[in-house]
Amino acid sequence: MEFLEAYTALHSADKRKELLTEWVFQRRQGLFAELREHAPFLQTQDFVMISRHEDVKAIFEDFTHFNVKAYLGSEDFVLGKDKDKGHDADRAFLEGLIPQAELERVHQVAGGAIAAIFKRLMTRCTGDAALPGGRSFRDPAGRINVPLGFARRVSVAVAQQYFGFTDPEPADFGIQPLLLPPYPIPEPIEDPRPLLDPMFPCVANWIATLNGAFIHGAFGRHFIFDPVAIQQLVSRVPQVRKEVATHVAALIQELQKQASAGPATILQRMVAAEKYDQALSMEERGKQLVEKVTRNLAGMVNGMVDNVTSAVSNAVDFFLSHPSAQETATTVAQTVIPAGQPEADSKENQDRRNTLWRLIREALRFNAPVPFLLRIANQDLVLAAGTVRETYVAEGTILFLGVCSAMMDETKWERPLEFRPDRTWAEADDLIFGTGWHDCFGKYIAQAQIVEMIRSLLTLQNLRRAPGRLGKLEYGTFFPKQLAVDFGPKPIQTALTAIMEIKPPQAFHAQALKLILSQAYQQVVDVLDRVGTVHFARFVFLENDTKLALMTSYDGAFDTYMKNYIEIAGELFNLMLAHIKDAPPLPVRRYRDEFIAYVEKIDLVSDSPFYSAYGDLTVQDILGMQEGAKK
Ligand code: HEM
Repeated sequence: MEFLEAYTALHSADKRKELLTEWVFQRRQGLFAELREHAPFLQTQDFVMISRHEDVKAIFEDFTHFNVKAYLGSEDFVLGKDKDKGHDADRAFLEGLIPQAELERVHQVAGGAIAAIFKRLMTRCTGDAALPGGRSFRDPAGRINVPLGFARRVSVAVAQQYFGFTDPEPADFGIQPLLLPPYPIPEPIEDPRPLLDPMFPCVANWIATLNGAFIHGAFGRHFIFDPVAIQQLVSRVPQVRKEVATHVAALIQELQKQASAGPATILQRMVAAEKYDQALSMEERGKQLVEKVTRNLAGMVNGMVDNVTSAVSNAVDFFLSHPSAQETATTVAQTVIPAGQPEADSKENQDRRNTLWRLIREALRFNAPVPFLLRIANQDLVLAAGTVRETYVAEGTILFLGVCSAMMDETKWERPLEFRPDRTWAEADDLIFGTGWHDCFGKYIAQAQIVEMIRSLLTLQNLRRAPGRLGKLEYGTFFPKQLAVDFGPKPIQTALTAIMEIKPPQAFHAQALKLILSQAYQQVVDVLDRVGTVHFARFVFLENDTKLALMTSYDGAFDTYMKNYIEIAGELFNLMLAHIKDAPPLPVRRYRDEFIAYVEKIDLVSDSPFYSAYGDLTVQDILGMQEGAKK
């Protein structure tokens, strides 16, 4: 009852909100295990949080007692419409634009976008020249930031090529084309400006703004996020809305001038399906069409891109943390024929894709891409009536449906903490895409993209987390922004770039450190020789003697390396750390964990994988070879 005790002990609404934010975003599993058992309907000042599968599902399925008015700003789009406001007709119209028979096209667009990303990553610079010593070039290696460098790009490509929501020409918005320096790389370098400037007009940035603002209005405002980031996000909305409407109008005009080649996009279908009110003038009809297409196109694409990104990132993160699940999924992924290749659309390959999807779906149970959904009580109600947990809610109460909790509910799933891809469950019990009358009709095209992406990542040689914080899944305001994975041969060696800040007065402490280092050089050499795993090491004073960097390349894992250091060089570190700002408690031999955590924190992990000319040789191997050569 750790959470509930702390929560009920607080009396200020702000403090409670702060605590709930911390648990929801940092200790989610623990929070919901507790809520499911002791407070399945947690009353907060703003909403009721619902955590049991049975209760969440019942609300999803019930359209008479609950409405979707909590999706602020979406009243004209299907997600924000109730049955009495034309939900079913809108849904049937939109669903009809995305026929399931066409799924292979989505696979192909995703596959093409993946291939383009991989091509850029793996373009080699081998030229004609042979390597010294007649050696051959090594296998490709690299790093991918899964959410932003991969998943989001692939899904944006689907928005562009399948939905027809293509990027504008920057010049249409008064932006000059970028003059790139003549890099000696065969593929043109991408324009970096969309990544640097969230107002750069392009589909990826538009979605980030519109969807971010939607999520904030519906969910985010009930928790505490960085107010500056939220303010910047919200302030971009009016301009982005204008740009999207202008661009959609231009796309429609283009379409009406000439039918484009190739299969119809969703945008083309929307335009073709429009039934005009004959009483309206041509101008009014045009305006109405732009308004309707913009709302539906942007609505669907918003529902797709960031959710697909979260799903791919969460699933990859799960596999990387569960090696046996990763192994099973990799074995299946290796059998799946990539989209676009012969037999990719065969029944056998479809079965393999489905097997991979089952593994992914089970992985997503642990970290649902859409963790919460919202409903509002239409009238005063008793929830879970007739059970021990029955709870009264007043008309207008906001209900937070904890999908992330429901999918881990021990009363629903046998041993929920185990990865069991062979679980059998009714489709309606899988809440990852919602269930009931508002469930996600885009789930098949989402699945197609996710399967292609996970297949391609898992089949990369030696897929693993990038070292340090870059390899940890990190969310930005609402969606994942960081989870770097490395592929290709992994050198035995690791790099450490630990940057320590010198204590004030810095001139004095820097001098003291210089003195220690000059006098202790021989000791350092002896320490490193005894550790026996360090290839190269150096101390460098940086930024006008305000910082001290320790840079080394060593064999094996960080923890072992640090433990050796503490044993052998503890005294030396005690001496040096006395001059360092925010140093861990001393002596290091007594506070080992704190020392290790400190070094981990100050290590600047390099942004690209570590290069080693001889990735499989340890210091001891090399010394052995040196000895051998001498004999
Ligand atoms: C992994 C990707 C996706 C996830 C996790 C996801 C999740 C969901 C969930 C949970 C709902 C139910 C909302 C509620 O009941 O309140 C939903 C509805 C919806 N989704 Fe998705 N979605 C994904 C991809 C897509 C895609 C690709 C589309 C593109 C068409 C899409 C369009 C929609 C729409 C239009 C609705 C509203 C349906 C209605 O109101 O009847 N989603 N989605």
